[in-house]
Amino acid sequence: MTTVLITGAGRGIGLALSRHYAADGANVIGCCREPARADALKDLAAVSRGRVRILQLDVSDEASIRSLKRALNEQPIDILINNAGIVGPATQSADCIDAEGWITTLRVNALAPILIAQALRDNLRRSSEKKLVAISSDAGSNSVDCYRGSALSRNRYAYRASKAALNNGMHRLARDWADDGVLVGIVNPGFVRTDMTGASAAASSASISPEDSARGIIQRIAELTSDTSGAFQDYRGEPMQW
Ligand SMILES: NC(=O)c1ccc[n+]([C@@H]2O[C@H](COP(=O)([O-])OP(=O)(O)OC[C@H]3O[C@@H](n4cnc5c(N)ncnc54)[C@H](OP(=O)(O)O)[C@@H]3O)[C@@H](O)[C@H]2O)c1
Repeated sequence: MTTVLITGAGRGIGLALSRHYAADGANVIGCCREPARADALKDLAAVSRGRVRILQLDVSDEASIRSLKRALNEQPIDILINNAGIVGPATQSADCIDAEGWITTLRVNALAPILIAQALRDNLRRSSEKKLVAISSDAGSNSVDCYRGSALSRNRYAYRASKAALNNGMHRLARDWADDGVLVGIVNPGFVRTDMTGASAAASSASISPEDSARGIIQRIAELTSDTSGAFQDYRGEPMQW
């Protein structure tokens, strides 16, 4: 049976991914910062007959990543989805940047996925599927027209930099771990109605539900091969420019 580990599984896209994989019969390890407050994930675990397990993980904390590794020990992980992310500080524009906030954004969105992948590398190697996935964003692409949209989404210097760095790191891992048989997916989930996008997505006809996004992401993961490993694409399978 496929085992999937998802970070940031308590809400938004991570919760939708957890629900879809659980419904498909996979073993799901849903990681979240505060399990006691992750009511929707706990409800999912309660009806899963032991197939959904909740583990505490603050991706920005290296000790927490080490605890996760200890809890998993040598358990094979077929699909590791680095989904947890933050939009970053209020001040991140061409005029002014909150420097500490920038560093935190880079740590959560770009550094943590690599540290988690390295910590769980053996768990991936021991599995059948060996798939490492990053939930990226079109904000990480230099080719997407970032001058459209709201002032908030036009700014986001820290968020954009973090997703570009995430893409770069994952693209490298696709090459460096290819000999282990590890396949790397880098997926833009679309404009999804979650807490992160708030009122702007709720009011936009261009937005999609977390469920539709998760369905597309899961399809992209299912289709990953050595030929597509390290490519950047959106949840519909459309190629993304770096
Ligand atoms: N929504 C969109 O339109 C969109 C577009 C492009 C990319 N994305 C990307 O998709 C991913 C999921 O976003 P979302 O829209 O589902 O956002 P969301 O609803 O705000 O959820 C973010 C998730 O990340 C978790 N998280 C944040 N910091 C964490 C930390 N230090 N340790 C562990 N977990 C942490 C949150 O956990 P807590 O509940 O503990 O805060 C939450 O589960 C992100 O990487 C985001 O950049 C989203």
